[in-house]
Amino acid sequence: MTNFTFSTTRTIINEAGAARRLATICEEQGARSVMLVTDEGIIGAGLLERILPSFQQSALQLTVFKDVEADPSDTTVMAATEAARRANVDYVVGFGGGSSMDVAKLVALLAHPQCKQPLSDMYGVGNARGVRLPLLQVPTTAGTGSEVTPIAIVTTGATTKAGVVSAVLQPDIALLDAELTTGLPPHVTAATGIDAMVHAIEAYTSAVKKNPVSDLLAKEALRLLSSNLMVAVKDGNNIQARSNMLLAALYAGQAFANAPVAAVHALAYPLGGHFHIPHGLSNSLVLPHVMRFNAPKAAHLYAELAPVVMGDAANVGSNEEKTAALITWLEQQTINTGLPTRLRDCGIREDAVAMLASEAMLQTRLLGNNPREVTEADALAIYQAAY
Ligand SMILES: NC(=O)c1ccc[n+]([C@@H]2O[C@H](COP(=O)([O-])OP(=O)(O)OC[C@H]3O[C@@H](n4cnc5c(N)ncnc54)[C@H](O)[C@@H]3O)[C@@H](O)[C@H]2O)c1
Ligand SMILES: [Fe+2]
Repeated sequence: MTNFTFSTTRTIINEAGAARRLATICEEQGARSVMLVTDEGIIGAGLLERILPSFQQSALQLTVFKDVEADPSDTTVMAATEAARRANVDYVVGFGGGSSMDVAKLVALLAHPQCKQPLSDMYGVGNARGVRLPLLQVPTTAGTGSEVTPIAIVTTGATTKAGVVSAVLQPDIALLDAELTTGLPPHVTAATGIDAMVHAIEAYTSAVKKNPVSDLLAKEALRLLSSNLMVAVKDGNNIQARSNMLLAALYAGQAFANAPVAAVHALAYPLGGHFHIPHGLSNSLVLPHVMRFNAPKAAHLYAELAPVVMGDAANVGSNEEKTAALITWLEQQTINTGLPTRLRDCGIREDAVAMLASEAMLQTRLLGNNPREVTEADALAIYQAAY
């Protein structure tokens, strides 16, 4: 018997086109002054135009904060918070990828009239406290699952990514509208989809808090992701594939919110912090090499995932053979998406790997979840293999 606690976002609305009635949903929740946290790319893709009519027809006051950047900084979080305070916002909507949703989470907490805690005191697990404004998340990428996680990732200073992890950040409502994701460019679909796959794989092999519910969700996420990612990359307008991807990213988010991610993310963060490589691509670049490193401790778990991804035909051979087949399948899938597969193809100099390894060791929150202990020498070897 496994003792465990499982938490998630209390309401999930899964409906193509539902974002068109976003204002009504906010009003039903008692909102009067809403802040929408988003980025220029979302606006450029015409997504704001889908929701503005519903706000114009409502009595709601709407403030749009559109200055979120990829891998958002603490400065951006505070700028959004100031704007929310000035507008007396009483309801926060994250509208975008993980970057916009993560900023929205922190704005909901920091802009609450009772919040006295500075952002700098919130990093780490369980350090952010208090009450926050109501929070609804609308993902426009099928990737981070931030709509169902109690996690916000912030770039602090110039290059370091740090996480705020606290139950107070768990969003109230997740609204999945697949129509918002049909315009995602193929490389963003690929990178964000692989991020979701990594969430599922790392949740399934997490050394901490892995449990029967997170396992169930991780497996179903991987089944959906492996059968829909290439369809969505090739035909962005396939609404069924887009919907499956969004649901899968949500399942993977629910899994890793309760069975946290590990060394793939720890080694991916310095790539985002220093070289602005998109989060999903950073994960994808180190994934096969971390899996090979983890295999001596996690092959029995990877072996259970091989048939989920490749079908029953993959259910032959030893755990090590199934693990090797799974890694090869993942590498081939990345090639099929057209994403780069090596650090050298992403503008990274070879002499940067030592710095990357030293930076990755700072991600103690994540490394502690890994099935196999990672030393700095191990991290260096993994980056070298990925180079
Ligand atoms: N909170 C969590 O649990 C969690 C988990 C994993 C990652 N993250 C964080 O999330 C961030 C990454 O989020 P992401 O991968 O979703 O990317 P993102 O939010 O940074 O967006 C990437 C790009 O895609 C564009 N975009 C988004 N949706 C679009 C759409 N529908 N059409 C056209 N363009 C669109 C954006 O404008 C942006 O330029 C990182 O900061 C990462 O650390 C958070
Ligand atoms: Fe991630």
